[in-house]
Amino acid sequence: MAKVTFDNSNALAFAGVDAEMVKAADAAAELLYNGQGAGNDFIGWVNLPSSISAESLNDIKATAARLRSKADVVVVIGIGGSYLGAKAVYDALGNTFEALLPKHDNPTLVFAGNNINEDYLAEMMEALEGHSIAAIVISKSGTTTEPAIAFRVIKDTIEKRYGKAEAAERIVAVTDGARGVLKSLADTEGYKSYVIPDNVGGRFSVLTPVGLLPLAVAGVDIEALVAGAVEMEKATAANVPFEQNVAKQYAAARNALYRKGYKVEIFATYEPKLQYVAEWWKQLYGESEGKQGKGIFPASVVFSTDLHSMGQYIQDGERMLFETVVNVENPTRTMTLEATPDNVDKLNFLAGRRIGQINQMAQLGTMLAHVDGGVPNLKVSIPAIDAENLGALLYFYEAACGISGYILGVNPFDQPGVEAYKRNMFALLGKPGYEAEGEELRKRLEK
Ligand code: PA5
Repeated sequence: MAKVTFDNSNALAFAGVDAEMVKAADAAAELLYNGQGAGNDFIGWVNLPSSISAESLNDIKATAARLRSKADVVVVIGIGGSYLGAKAVYDALGNTFEALLPKHDNPTLVFAGNNINEDYLAEMMEALEGHSIAAIVISKSGTTTEPAIAFRVIKDTIEKRYGKAEAAERIVAVTDGARGVLKSLADTEGYKSYVIPDNVGGRFSVLTPVGLLPLAVAGVDIEALVAGAVEMEKATAANVPFEQNVAKQYAAARNALYRKGYKVEIFATYEPKLQYVAEWWKQLYGESEGKQGKGIFPASVVFSTDLHSMGQYIQDGERMLFETVVNVENPTRTMTLEATPDNVDKLNFLAGRRIGQINQMAQLGTMLAHVDGGVPNLKVSIPAIDAENLGALLYFYEAACGISGYILGVNPFDQPGVEAYKRNMFALLGKPGYEAEGEELRKRLEK
């Protein structure tokens, strides 16, 4: 059974959660669940896990099986919420050194359209040359520039290599049900397509085909992922009291810290495989809360690696940070350090210990050191990195994000700030309709 637990005992000395904050968390959860809060046209994710039917999972699995039978590399094209969830789960469940393994049971996923980098795209296209390829193109709006550019390149390659008819078998689109260029293109070309529900925003869409299709292609047990999320949907519902509701507790604890001046939250993990879960979390919280001149700045570190870089700042730098350690109770693999007869490296005191136990001591020691250094510590734990627990963790963060945003007093479901760069980029690129803005920006850049 999937389980997410939360502990704020190492933050209480800095900012306790008082009765007023408990009330605020309860009220925020109520708003989220009764659909009366700001942005309530984007809360379709709240009851999403429990509404996913066996039929729709089977349909996703059938499409995944088709792509798996045709390709050993599947290019997943998307940006922001249209790629981070799949990438997070894929990395967490995959073998970090898969490229070095002789045998690949599952197709490799590569991610494109999450930047506009010439070298990235050129190197990827070169690397795809010796492989049988397919593509999943994901864009809710169907108009986002980064994935559109990558898709144009990949579509062209697939069509030239396999012909138009076979390309339609190798390309799947995930997009809006009615609008957008990608929707019309998918219809014209005859691609199998999946709909991202209108009321589910990009960063809350990992449990729609946006995340589920690429993950099914990669061989992830999507039923288990959804089952974990369903458990957490029940465990974090508005009617679950604060004392038992980890989403309310986390949302309340981080807002209590924020009100005391702790304006940066560091997602700290001792599991390198969770690096992209941190990236997904940063997008979820950054886009949901960073608006109207407020919001906790989400940052992340992977320890112990970053104890040798960011560790100095966290221990001794400006005191506006708090850390949320994402703790995994049990490693998946077992590896023990052996004694050596000569003990030249003086490590025999660790002989017989599992590497995971040493990592655990690094985690506990760091937590105490950071608390002593003035950094409040929260802890979110899961028993292990598997599909079910990841599903639970993702949903936990989504639920807590909705609650936290309402406590903060913002609409957690819009992202008006991301438009500014797009307007400038279109103007500088000479997109029709942006002529006057383009002229003005060019004058500014010439100064
Ligand atoms: O959370 C969001 O809504 C955004 O991050 C989007 O996911 C991102 O901008 C990609 O948008 P789209 O899926 O429309 O291409």
